[in-house]
Amino acid sequence: MCGIVGYVGSNPVLDILLDGLEQLEYRGYDSSGIAVRNGDKINVYKAVGKLKNLREELSSHAYEIQKSTSGIGHIRWATHGAPTVVNAHPHVSNCGKLVVVHNGIIENYKELKSKLEAQGCTFKSQTDTETVAHLVALKYEEVKDLTKAVGLAVNEIEGAYALEIMHADEPDKIVITKRNAPLIIGVANDGFYAGSDIPAFIKHTNKAVYLSDNQIATLTSSSMKIQDKDGNEVTPKIEQLPWEPVALSKMGYKHFMLKEIHEQPDVVRNILFGKLHSADTPIELEEVKLTREHLKSLNRIQIIACGTSLHAGMIGKYLIEDFCQIPVDIEASSEYIYRKTVTDEHTLVIGVSQSGETADTLTAIKQAKARGSHILIITNRPDSAMAREADSLLSVNAGIEVSVAATKSYIAQLTSFYLLALFMAEIKETLDNVKLSTLKSEMLILPQKIEQILSNKDKIQTCARKYSGTRDFIYIARGINYPTALEGALKLKEISYINATGYPAGELKHGPIAMLDETMPVLSILMKGSVYDKLLSNSEEARARNARMIALTNSDSPKLDELFDCIIKVPDIDEILSPIISIIPLQLIAYYIAEFLGKDVDQPRNLAKSVTVE
Ligand code: M6R
Repeated sequence: MCGIVGYVGSNPVLDILLDGLEQLEYRGYDSSGIAVRNGDKINVYKAVGKLKNLREELSSHAYEIQKSTSGIGHIRWATHGAPTVVNAHPHVSNCGKLVVVHNGIIENYKELKSKLEAQGCTFKSQTDTETVAHLVALKYEEVKDLTKAVGLAVNEIEGAYALEIMHADEPDKIVITKRNAPLIIGVANDGFYAGSDIPAFIKHTNKAVYLSDNQIATLTSSSMKIQDKDGNEVTPKIEQLPWEPVALSKMGYKHFMLKEIHEQPDVVRNILFGKLHSADTPIELEEVKLTREHLKSLNRIQIIACGTSLHAGMIGKYLIEDFCQIPVDIEASSEYIYRKTVTDEHTLVIGVSQSGETADTLTAIKQAKARGSHILIITNRPDSAMAREADSLLSVNAGIEVSVAATKSYIAQLTSFYLLALFMAEIKETLDNVKLSTLKSEMLILPQKIEQILSNKDKIQTCARKYSGTRDFIYIARGINYPTALEGALKLKEISYINATGYPAGELKHGPIAMLDETMPVLSILMKGSVYDKLLSNSEEARARNARMIALTNSDSPKLDELFDCIIKVPDIDEILSPIISIIPLQLIAYYIAEFLGKDVDQPRNLAKSVTVE
């Protein structure tokens, strides 16, 4: 949930740390800090709030550390203790010589704290991380070797962590280790970088080593030594990274979110390329490692995910049941892990996650794997912890998504679900050939349809602004677009803090209709097809209660002009494919309202891009 960065090498460290933290700001941004070697001491600087506050704090100190070439940094999303300077990382041991930054949660920190206090340690912060600083410092007193001290300390720590540690008595050295939290080493000619995610150092190198759980790496400006938990040296596997530095630029857009919304046509094109060649050729999904016999014999699928990925999974359920006639359960990972699910070797379990790091989904996947299920992961991060658990890996290749509000990764997940469901239907022979060809040829022109919507964004902006003063917002839909209503509402909530809710339109009359009056906007996702007439009736019911009606539709019916104050038109499309295009105007509405209200679109309050705590 937090971001950590480190560097030891021949270049000045200050800008390396600050730039690295800036690239990790999507992981958390309520306070930040760095520790930098200064002669035989280590200086620590911290600030509450966004990184710019730390930059300001440092502006009067930069001269002290301008020649420093090693340091560690942290950007925080508070879990234990409020976002204050005292609780910000790096944390310092009582002797003042050891500093630590941490991403994750030390689960047994209370027991550790009592033990350490009994040994004379004094705690300044409310964080779990401070226990690590004191624990490693005490071990250091015994062994006078930072790597050994870290090795001894982690034996006593329970929970999830990525740690970077420096000691004033061991110049030119950073010791790092991890368990159930990501930590990657960047290997460069000028030294070694360490980060909780690749953007922390991609500007400097695209060669990396993924540290495995319980490994400890000792980095100096000229060497990298990695050992396993028993102290045996491990030969590092240096990998070439897929990310390009250019991906992290806004490319002229005001926010990353707007840029990422505009990347969606290409995201769909990329996913289809190589998998869907034409209307008449079978879908190729080499990534699915289930045998044809196993696929044919599947009688149950479970999809697990959180947030936006959960909404993509809900549409996945609809598609797989419709195309393949296999029963599918979909559940929020955080619920799945705390009940006895009927999951076994006959169940295909699909985990969906942009980051591939979400703790709830990762735990759920591990549970399902332990019960013998085949694990298929749909993720944007083929290098993630979840990907490593996969038996089949569908990498959506949407490119790095910086904005906390997921947009292009959602479209990528949806596109992958369409391919997967059609692929399975072809193997199971559950869809007739005419229907298959029609769907495939419509899919091939999806990117152009998304482009058409984006070229009309000014109209959507005008409509959005009319509703920016509202405190509440209701989205209604039926059938396959019900998850679209949930996702549209989630986008608005996340970035504008307007209380938005998605409902299956048929449920309005069972309660929510009581909230309707002339102040309440109701957006109806009115796509032509099986539920169009029903939804039109539900919209009329809402209109009769004087709600402010908005239609998102592919219909040209003149009747709509009487019913709706604002009509957002999208290109015509087969009902079952419509979620891929109906979400685009909803992303834009959320964006334009938040932007108009002056909200921090890319980094909304209280949220973080990847949620690595349960
Ligand atoms: O990385 P994941 O897809 O597993 O993340 C799941 C949710 O935390 C995520 O979708 C969240 O809801 C986003 N902020 C949505 O915009």
